[in-house]
Amino acid sequence: MRSKKTLFTVGFFVILSAVSFLIASEGSPPPASPHVAMTPELKEKYPIKAHHAKLSLRCTDCHEKQGDNPEDFKAIGDEGCLSCHKTKQYLADRLKFMDALHVNPHNSIHDGPKLYCDECHNEHKPSDNMCLSCHSNDVKIWMRKTP
Ligand code: HEC
Ligand code: HEC
Ligand code: HEC
Ligand code: HEC
Repeated sequence: MRSKKTLFTVGFFVILSAVSFLIASEGSPPPASPHVAMTPELKEKYPIKAHHAKLSLRCTDCHEKQGDNPEDFKAIGDEGCLSCHKTKQYLADRLKFMDALHVNPHNSIHDGPKLYCDECHNEHKPSDNMCLSCHSNDVKIWMRKTP
C-alpha cells in the first residue's frame, strides 16, 4: 500500500515539474530589460505607437545607452530609427510605388531621401506630416496618414 502511494506521489511530481518546465520555457515573457521596467505609469505617460507596441518593443530598445532613468531619456534621432529601419534609401525603395506621382514622402521631389524622420513621425504623440504645411489638402489624397 505504502510503496504504491509513494510511487504515485513521485509520479505526480515528475509530471508536475515537466508541465511547469514546459510552461516556463514556452509561455514566459522575454527577460526584463536590464534597468528600466515598463511600468503601467510609464506606458501611459510615453505611449508607444501600435505598430511598435505589437512587437513588444521596450523603452530601452529605442532609448539605448541613455542611462536607466526614463525621465532623462531623450529623442533618438534618425540614427535611432535607422538602427532598425536600415537606411533612408531602403525606406525610399519600400515606398517606390509612390514615386510614379512623385509623392513618396521618403523620396520627395523637393528633398529626395534626406529628411529627418521627426519632421513627420513622432513616437509618443501623433505624427505630423510636414508636407501638409504647404500642401494642405492635396497631401491627404497623395498619401496615407503618417503612421
Ligand atoms: C519606437 C521607439 C521608442 C520607444 C519604444 C520608446 N521611445 Fe521614448 N522617444 C522616442 C522618440 C522618437 C522620442 C522623441 C519624441 C517623440 O517622437 O515622441 C522619444 C522621447 C522620449 C522622452 C523625452 C520626452 C520629450 O518630450 O522629449 C522620454 C522621457 C521617453 N521617450 C521615454 C520613453 C519611455 C519611458 C519608454 C518606454 C515606456 C519609451 N520612451 C519608449 C522613441 C521611443
Ligand atoms: C528596435 C527596433 C526599432 C526601432 C528603434 C524603430 N522601429 Fe519602427 N518598426 C520596427 C519593426 C520591426 C517594425 C515592423 C516591420 C516594419 O515595418 O519594418 C516597425 C514598424 C514601423 C512603422 C510602421 C510600418 C507600417 O507598416 O505602418 C513605422 C511608421 C515605423 N516603424 C517608424 C519608426 C520610426 C519613425 C522610428 C524612430 C523614431 C522607429 N520606427 C524606430 C522596429 C523599430
Ligand atoms: C515627409 C514626411 C516623412 C518623413 C520625413 C519620413 N516619413 Fe516615414 N512615412 C511618412 C508617411 C506619410 C508614411 C505613410 C506612407 C503611405 O503608405 O502612404 C510613412 C511610412 C513609413 C513607414 C512604413 C512604410 C514602409 O516603408 O514600411 C516606415 C517604416 C517609416 N515611414 C519610417 C520612417 C523613418 C525611419 C524615417 C526617417 C529616416 C521617415 N519615415 C521619414 C512620412 C514621412
Ligand atoms: C515649403 C512648402 C512646401 C513643402 C513643405 C512641401 N512642398 Fe511640395 N511643393 C511646394 C511648391 C511651392 C510646389 C510647386 C507648386 C505646386 O505645384 O503646387 C510644390 C510641388 C510639389 C509637387 C508637384 C505637384 C504637382 O502638382 O505636380 C509634389 C508631388 C510635391 N510638391 C510633393 C511634396 C511632398 C511629398 C512634400 C513633403 C515631403 C512636400 N511637397 C512638401 C511647396 C512645398
